[in-house]
Amino acid sequence: MRLTNSKDRYGAVPQFLHWAVVALVITAWLLGQFIDDLPRGTLAIHIALGLGVLVFLVARLAWRFSDPPPEPEPTALGPWLDVAGRLAHYLMYLLLALVPIAGIVTQFARGDAVSIFGVYEIASPWVKDRAFARSVTEVHEILANALVIFAGLHAVAALVHHWILRDRTLLRMLPGA
Ligand code: HEM
Ligand code: HEM
Repeated sequence: MRLTNSKDRYGAVPQFLHWAVVALVITAWLLGQFIDDLPRGTLAIHIALGLGVLVFLVARLAWRFSDPPPEPEPTALGPWLDVAGRLAHYLMYLLLALVPIAGIVTQFARGDAVSIFGVYEIASPWVKDRAFARSVTEVHEILANALVIFAGLHAVAALVHHWILRDRTLLRMLPGA
């Protein structure tokens, strides 16, 4: 299997980056939902997963610039859907950056440090501000929910391509044939 993208499919590296981010986002989101009922250490895991999203995002964008993705599969519905698909991808890239950034701001607003994978700690540059912390937690939550909703619609679109339009859009992002 080829590591880089080709004209008609994603390479192994971009595929790995895509599915790793899917796993990280879903796990971080689920931990976020139950964070109040889980042991204290859960927030550290949540933060490590969220920072992982940021690291993979940078790798992914760097890869995308040097190794452009394949052109969209031609569909019976014409080029409008390609434009919609492309916009949805850009929006997801934007949210993949904004959600962890809002998470970092949340942590700092609480006056708490952000641990970089347990190796290094960045102290909060601010004193604790309860009202601000509450607002940015809410922003972080809304952005995280928006990301998960868009990703859900995006997954439905991938399945529509596969089962209804019967093109190779989904297969191009999967290892194998
Ligand atoms: C893609 C990555 C991430 C997703 C999907 C995500 C999602 C969520 C969700 C859904 C919540 C629950 C909000 C609530 O109900 O109040 C939450 C809470 C939180 N997240 Fe994230 N988050 C991510 C990354 C991060 C990062 C990188 C940080 C910090 C560096 C962070 C810090 C926090 C904090 C401090 C809370 C509040 C926890 C509490 O209420 O005690 N998150 N996150
Ligand atoms: C958190 C969940 C997800 C996120 C954040 C996400 C994000 C993205 C992004 C940003 C791209 C554009 C890649 C590029 O630069 O060309 C993409 C492509 C793709 N994703 Fe996802 N995705 C998620 C989940 C899924 C799921 C669950 C499926 C399948 C059911 C899926 C199937 C695909 C396919 C088939 C492509 C290639 C589309 C094309 O060829 O134009 N994704 N995804």
